Amino acid sequence: MDYQNLKIPRHVGIIVDGNGRWAEERGRKRSYGHQKGSENLERLSRYILTKTGVEILSVYVFSTENFKRSVEEVDYLMGLFTKKFKNDAKKYKRENIKIVFSGRREPLKEEVLKTMDEITEMTKNNTGGILNFCLNYGGHAEIVDATLKIYHDLESGKIDHLDEEIFSKYLYHDLPPIDFLIRTSGEYRISNFMLWQASYAEFYFPKTYFPDFDEKEFDHAILEYTARDRRFGGIDYEKTNH
Ligand code: IPE
Ligand code: IPE
Ligand code: MG
Repeated sequence: MDYQNLKIPRHVGIIVDGNGRWAEERGRKRSYGHQKGSENLERLSRYILTKTGVEILSVYVFSTENFKRSVEEVDYLMGLFTKKFKNDAKKYKRENIKIVFSGRREPLKEEVLKTMDEITEMTKNNTGGILNFCLNYGGHAEIVDATLKIYHDLESGKIDHLDEEIFSKYLYHDLPPIDFLIRTSGEYRISNFMLWQASYAEFYFPKTYFPDFDEKEFDHAILEYTARDRRFGGIDYEKTNH
């Protein structure tokens, strides 16, 4: 699709959902769905950040609540993340994409943290777009973590007041707000993702399971976004009677 002259969201969020059901429908184990989902994510994220004009992509790949899943599934996912970060680091570096992570480090294992730190370090000077992996991420946890840091800085006198702009700087990363939030798989909920950053996001809920959410589906999503009228609480009096 030709992205020129389209109204492009600066920051896109994707809640990667439906890997398990995708696999189950094919009579396969959930892990197979995660494998396919991770391959899709790598291709799709490079497309979004290099071909469309989107500057920041935040992807929800593991929530703080996902630790409620079986040890087998959690271990599989952690192993998959480790392998993908190790294998894909060079690709992202070449594509000039900067990788960052949002989420709590505790209780992630050392081997996962190590690959996260390596890919972060390898891509830190890249300027062609930001891919923010939300891993062991929770919107509540992020707000609590920010609040604790703010409390500390108020106590020590580093800051003397608080407003929305200052609060934003204490989040895991000081990124612009999410403009467009996509959740695949036909679930209509936010599941603790980017509660602060998504306050005025446009939402889009395709039925497609994530392993099948490809470049074409993303193009379609963007066309839907371009038709939205974002008002941010205001009114365009030139377009209305009053
Ligand atoms: C999304 O797919 C990936 C993660 C949450 C890690 P799911 O694993 O939630 O797949 P479904 O929703 O059970 O189909
Ligand atoms: C949300 O998906 C978390 C991620 C995509 C990482 P879930 O599949 O865990 O969410 P619920 O349980 O259906 O709300
Ligand atoms: Mg799910």
